[in-house]
Amino acid sequence: MIKQAIIPLAGLGTRLLPLTSVFPKELLPMNGRPGIEYILDECIEAGIKEVIFIISNKKKMIKDYFYKDNFYKKIIKKKGDPRILSEYKKILKYKKMVKFVYQNKPLGTGDAVLKTQKFIKSDFFLMLLPDDLIIKKNCSKDMISIHKKKKCSVMASMKVDKKTVNRWGIFSKKNHINIHNFYIKDVIEKPEIKSAPSNNAVIGRYILPKKVFKKLKNQPKGKGGEIHITDAIRGLIIEGNKFIGHNFKGKYLDCGTMQGYINSSKEISKI
Ligand code: G1P
Repeated sequence: MIKQAIIPLAGLGTRLLPLTSVFPKELLPMNGRPGIEYILDECIEAGIKEVIFIISNKKKMIKDYFYKDNFYKKIIKKKGDPRILSEYKKILKYKKMVKFVYQNKPLGTGDAVLKTQKFIKSDFFLMLLPDDLIIKKNCSKDMISIHKKKKCSVMASMKVDKKTVNRWGIFSKKNHINIHNFYIKDVIEKPEIKSAPSNNAVIGRYILPKKVFKKLKNQPKGKGGEIHITDAIRGLIIEGNKFIGHNFKGKYLDCGTMQGYINSSKEISKI
């Protein structure tokens, strides 16, 4: 059973400057709530019991959001406002399930995953990238249900504009299980347009095997001098581990770029 999730949150958020000069991007409001709460709710609804946040010293404000609750306590005592009380209860619920680890050097998503090794108990765990919101249908829940049937790793997938393949991890497919799921033959991190095997992109939801830690430990740096999770997955596929690509049914919202963030906030306010 998949009960643990990890969320890399140490990224610098430069694509969202000036908003991120003092503020972590994951706390930026989207229709009155920090973006990270949508991700946490997706986890809770999918049956996740523990979430590991990978933050950095620069992004301690994320920990404060859940831990500095003296302010709430004082105000609730003084004013007894039911709205504040219910917000406080929500924060307490999140706080109970969240643990923190640190990645102080921005060495890539693979390096962030490595930091969580000592916490992961079972053979598979979920990873969510907070720049990728998926609304209207719980992608993690659907991926967990595929994992239960096929007992292997799963990654979210979406067709992207061919001109943008060098912004994503790109799959090549082996065979389809049904319209929404296929076995992955290979995956390449941010290929050039001319060498991309397809326009099926990796979106930020992964069910990863514990074995990935061993792979990451010995992995040389990849594109841009970073340790990429995609390269570790590629290695595992070559060794014969099965990975399924899941074409999710929900709507994808990109929250990692300024235009994406503006559009996502509008979309989210409609639901
Ligand atoms: C990361 C992954 C990439 C994936 C993307 C999804 O890239 O490395 O394979 O397609 O997330 O959002 P990043 O957005 O960190 O550049």
